[in-house]
Amino acid sequence: MIRQKIVAGNWKMNGSKESILSLIGGLLEMDGSSSEVVVAPSFPYLSQVNDLISGGSVMLAAQNVSHELKGAYTGEVSASMLGDFGVKYVLLGHSERRSLYGETDDIVASKVKTVLDFGFVPMLCIGETLVERESGKTLDVCERQIQAVIDVVGIAAFEQMAIAYEPVWAIGTGLSASAEQAQEIHQSIRAFLAKSSESVSQKVQILYGGSVKASTSSALFKMPDVDGALVGGASLDAKEFIAIVKAAG
Ligand code: G3P
Repeated sequence: MIRQKIVAGNWKMNGSKESILSLIGGLLEMDGSSSEVVVAPSFPYLSQVNDLISGGSVMLAAQNVSHELKGAYTGEVSASMLGDFGVKYVLLGHSERRSLYGETDDIVASKVKTVLDFGFVPMLCIGETLVERESGKTLDVCERQIQAVIDVVGIAAFEQMAIAYEPVWAIGTGLSASAEQAQEIHQSIRAFLAKSSESVSQKVQILYGGSVKASTSSALFKMPDVDGALVGGASLDAKEFIAIVKAAG
């Protein structure tokens, strides 16, 4: 099964109007790519980035969204609001949301349903901590996180989603999982999905995230079950991010 690669940049809580103008300017000089290129700015900059990339091939992602639809939820952003800014993807369940902001598997699953209901593409982030890996629980964790979503939206919905496997111990540490480590887990994730639907399992794009750099990305993208990357720090440097996109082909 040929799956289009996705290379997404999660800018996290970084950027300014000025730095974004420069970063996007660099990205727009990029030649056409066969991969889907996505950028995920913080909420305040969605409008600016949408204007800068509109009509081009770079797609827009939000880093989060409320599972509530509207109302008295101070500080929250609703899915209906994202529609005003040309968003295509929504990152959900990022380990920083789970660990720092108490997002449980159930909350993440509820957000996935809301995002699907509004016609956006959820990018479901899963992954284990170092303690969980060292105790041999990596697949238990990933399968639990995925099953919580299947229980709410069903397996067929995964055809409209992407998964980002982001081992927590590799995020922001400079210590990426090796290509072989990533392939092992991606293959197991796909096998787990296949228990519910073989056809869906073959269609779902599974990205790797966690200290992806241009120097490590070529080996990653050669792996049969690695369908792209969710890039943090390296996505804030236009040249580095473009090099990762080029490595994806
Ligand atoms: O969502 C991607 C992010 O968690 C990875 O961050 O800086 O390790 O590439 P980084």
